Amino acid sequence: MIKIAVLVSGNGSNLQALIDAQLGQHLSGKIVGVISNKADAYALERAQQVQIETRVIEHKAYPKREIFDDAMHQQLLDWDVDLVVLAGFMRILSEKFVRAWEGKMINIHPSLLPLYKGMHTHQRVLNTGDMFHGCTVHYVTAELDAGPALLQGVLKVNQHDNLTTLAKRVHELEHVIYPQVVEWICTQTIQYQAGQVLYKGQPLIKPLQFCQI
Ligand code: GRF
Repeated sequence: MIKIAVLVSGNGSNLQALIDAQLGQHLSGKIVGVISNKADAYALERAQQVQIETRVIEHKAYPKREIFDDAMHQQLLDWDVDLVVLAGFMRILSEKFVRAWEGKMINIHPSLLPLYKGMHTHQRVLNTGDMFHGCTVHYVTAELDAGPALLQGVLKVNQHDNLTTLAKRVHELEHVIYPQVVEWICTQTIQYQAGQVLYKGQPLIKPLQFCQI
């Protein structure tokens, strides 16, 4: 059984999607713990409601990024974690931490990577007038939002979409694709071997796509 830790900073709707998948027995793995760098993250309540262990590790309490990361690393080891899932975790991770979890840590980003790395993705899509938008689940590497992409949720931007509606639509898509990728990793449908991603045993050259068009 794959042991999963989820790292959060805020609302935790993606954590909720994973919890719901677990409760609905759509997840072969088990969420063994949730770490937040913010004590008031609502995600913590979501975990506590279903008796998932939580730990607050406030980055502000640590003099250096590396020492904060060491504390998280130790907690992950204590929980004997196999897979780290970043779900709205708003801290940049040190290279040492990322290397330690290479091939065992994934993130979801609200854009069709490599487009729109970084923040304010929905607004940037609207400003550009793109026809398509979405979200990407990817392995985490040292370069921000640049690790191997696994699955993308794709939607068509409607003429009437604004920041609120677009963000909501992308979020809903995230809640579909993130549990799916976690399950694929739990069942070894997706594997990471020596820097290469395999899907059903074959190299994954470009991300899979789930289209809601
Ligand atoms: C999501 O939009 C995700 O793409 C980004 O952070 C947000 C987290 O939302 N990485 P939530 O806390 O899961 O609701």
